Amino acid sequence: MFEKMNIIKMGIMPTKKESKEYVKQGIIPVKFCYPKIGGDIWHKLRRDKRYVIGERELTAFNGSLDNVKEIIEEDPINIVHLGPGDGIEVPLLFDRLNLCGNGKYVGADISGKMIINTFRLNKPYFSNDNSLWYLTDIEIEGNLELICRDIKNKGANRNLILLTNQGVLLSNPRILEFMQKSMDNQDYLFITVEGDCPPKRDEICATYDLAEVRELLSVGLQRAGYDPKKGRFRTVLNEQESRAEVYFKPEMVQSGSMHNKPEILCLTSYKPQTDEFRQRLENAGLHIKFMKFYEDVHTFGVLCSKNR
Ligand SMILES: C[S@@+](CC[C@H](N)C(=O)[O-])C[C@H]1O[C@@H](n2cnc3c(N)ncnc32)[C@H](O)[C@@H]1O
Repeated sequence: MFEKMNIIKMGIMPTKKESKEYVKQGIIPVKFCYPKIGGDIWHKLRRDKRYVIGERELTAFNGSLDNVKEIIEEDPINIVHLGPGDGIEVPLLFDRLNLCGNGKYVGADISGKMIINTFRLNKPYFSNDNSLWYLTDIEIEGNLELICRDIKNKGANRNLILLTNQGVLLSNPRILEFMQKSMDNQDYLFITVEGDCPPKRDEICATYDLAEVRELLSVGLQRAGYDPKKGRFRTVLNEQESRAEVYFKPEMVQSGSMHNKPEILCLTSYKPQTDEFRQRLENAGLHIKFMKFYEDVHTFGVLCSKNR
């Protein structure tokens, strides 16, 4: 039952000091926006039809599931869902992949609110027996390794990690290294991510200008001491870095410390082109078992393993 849901806190969590260090460098990572009220804002955003990136990524997710199923085969496996948010992928997942045997569904998120929402919104799929929940920051080295080991002690002896609809996490240059270190030879990593599409860059950037996205980013700005109403957001596609970037420019004031305050980078989201993406996976020691670029939604579905 919901009331009995057991959330395991795993590994190191970010501190206020860490967030202050980022702010000094002009950056507010999105992970600081998700906990507490951020979970409610995400829930609103995920249901907004104008949040088209969500639909694009779900198309690639749905389109790739049968290929994933064929490659991983029917033996028991744990599904390690990283950053489930509202768990919008859960019904598709349970309808198409069979956990079988001692396989578990695992939800791991930095936001307790998101974990509860995933459970609450998808209750019919979960029992005390088939699911495990971890509160953790997977961008801190070692945390995902701990979880992946813990799961194998409690469930099946192989994992399918889902890093699906996670352009922001994928824009962390170390995230694939953390994935690879958390995997054994029998494990798989399934990624879906919107790619770059030069003729559609305005459309890609428009998603990040939605009111709810700004509301979410405002949580981080406020926590860092900025007034999000006193300033302007702008989104660009940085081709060199293969990512969309959202900046916040605090309003200039004539006197005091806000004068000439630099822009704050408050969101980065990975938007790869095919060759760069392939290269990045290979550089991280991940071998592609399946890769498809869904042209109409310019989004990738990829399955990798550590084995060639
Ligand atoms: C863009 S949402 C995606 C949610 C879901 N996969 C979907 O498509 O609707 C990002 C999710 O990842 C979680 N997240 C972001 N950074 C994280 C981190 N460093 N560690 C763990 N979870 C994180 C957020 O709390 C949120 O639930």
